[in-house]
Amino acid sequence: MEEARSQALAVVTGARSGLGAAVAAGLRRAGYRVVGTTRQPSTAPEGEWRALDLADPADVERFAREHADLLAEAEVWINNAGAGCFGPFSEWRAEDIRAQLELLLTGPMHLCQPVFKAMVARGHGCLVNVSSLSVEFPLPYMPAYNAAKAGLSQLSQTLLLEAPAGVRVIDFQPGDFRTDFNRNLQRTRGSGARLERVWQYLDRHLQSGPPAEAIARTLLAAIQRGHRGRLRAGSTFQTRLAPWGAGLLPARLRRRAHLAYYGVGEMRA
Ligand SMILES: NC(=O)c1ccc[n+]([C@@H]2O[C@H](COP(=O)([O-])OP(=O)(O)OC[C@H]3O[C@@H](n4cnc5c(N)ncnc54)[C@H](OP(=O)(O)O)[C@@H]3O)[C@@H](O)[C@H]2O)c1
Repeated sequence: MEEARSQALAVVTGARSGLGAAVAAGLRRAGYRVVGTTRQPSTAPEGEWRALDLADPADVERFAREHADLLAEAEVWINNAGAGCFGPFSEWRAEDIRAQLELLLTGPMHLCQPVFKAMVARGHGCLVNVSSLSVEFPLPYMPAYNAAKAGLSQLSQTLLLEAPAGVRVIDFQPGDFRTDFNRNLQRTRGSGARLERVWQYLDRHLQSGPPAEAIARTLLAAIQRGHRGRLRAGSTFQTRLAPWGAGLLPARLRRRAHLAYYGVGEMRA
């Protein structure tokens, strides 16, 4: 990636691990001043860190108040932080639902508003919302995750309708890639053979996916070439073949194939 203008500022939420760490490292290499967020800055590696817990609305407000300069000056802002929650919908507590929506949708949306406003006023900037391929292929037993990511993608798509020419919004929808995402995932109550089978398949897909660095490279290249709009990254099967094949099938067969992909094609709910 070519050298960025004199230390332009890039902010990456959830920059301590997985995709966030890989993207932050790539932006640093490209010459950006990178500020990362984490819930635990005291134990973070060397670099510029700010504390942020996106699942806590009061902390999001505090962050926006205390770091108005970052929100106003970021040339690149990447809403990456995220975690999942898995379990049968009937077992979800109200606080599980709220926490997922705060972390994955309301928190990022709250932060994006001043960021987008400043980019529009300046006439340039790049806002990336890390959504998921689950927007097209929902992950079984992750209803709030899927709903929040769909909301985040719709936010990006709406901002694309408002953004002037110099302001870029990227609706990033990766498929599975290898990180500690599933290890950090929370589980609600609920058990059973079908649930456990889906869990095994979810984990298998993630572990056999490309490394986070490969996904980061796709995003960094897109930022560099001035991409705007939806961007997919991941295995050829998930990002190309499955969407193409799904488009050919009637809804009922498509759902069947989707369940088979999670090992429960023949298993009754
Ligand atoms: N891995 C996949 O297959 C996959 C596929 C599609 C989309 N995604 C999306 O990609 C993004 C990155 O995921 P990843 O796979 O790289 O996972 P990861 O390695 O678990 O990293 C997630 C990051 O999010 C931060 N985070 C978690 N909960 C948070 C909270 N309440 N407040 C603030 N930050 C929080 C963590 O930071 P601290 O622990 O340092 O606070 C961590 O750095 C997520 O949005 C995820 O939904 C992942």
